Amino acid sequence: MTDIVFATSNENKLKEIRKIMSDSRYNIITMKQLGIANQIEEDGNTFCENAVKKASGIMKITEKPTLADDSGIEIDFLDKKPGVHSAMFLGIDTPYSIRNLEILKMLKDVPFEKRTARFVCVIACALTNGDIITAEGVFEGHIAYDPKGENGFGYDPIFYVKEYGMTSAEMDINLKNCISHRGKALRDMAKKLEEIANKGYLK
Ligand code: IMP
Repeated sequence: MTDIVFATSNENKLKEIRKIMSDSRYNIITMKQLGIANQIEEDGNTFCENAVKKASGIMKITEKPTLADDSGIEIDFLDKKPGVHSAMFLGIDTPYSIRNLEILKMLKDVPFEKRTARFVCVIACALTNGDIITAEGVFEGHIAYDPKGENGFGYDPIFYVKEYGMTSAEMDINLKNCISHRGKALRDMAKKLEEIANKGYLK
């Protein structure tokens, strides 16, 4: 088994990646297990820049292959905001229940066809030889008219997925993982890591 560090302190993300990588030859270890904290500032202009910066920065500390992700929601009516600033949007300490109501106010009277939005996730893996692998996942939907659902986190209660007739906060976690930005990016990354392992780079 090869150890890969996942640069996150988010337990949900860890659970998700461990499940997806459970049949692989990789053993996911955490920064907590290594006794290090995340000191990398996410100040890039794109999800990819932030994920690459975090993965490379932590890899230099751990000297092990390191995965990092960055994600957020793009709302077309708000010129794709909050995008990379999703975690800070309207104030890092503002509860999501309030942020979500504010977004609904910003989109008051906006018709359904103009309420398009998407969650985006980019995962980067920094290898110890300096190579970087990236994978992206996109989850398309609309901004709902009212918040609904108790599952998930963040903007899930206002993210309506037409094909399922519900918000991502009303979805069972397994369904969300199957179709979500993070699930898609993680599965793509797992595939790319298997491919490079098969080529003999990561034993
Ligand atoms: P980060 O990738 O941990 O920096 O998180 C970015 C922010 O995007 C989160 O704090 C949430 O506000 C938002 N976000 C990312 N993925 C999701 C999701 O699956 N559901 C709801 N909000 C999300």
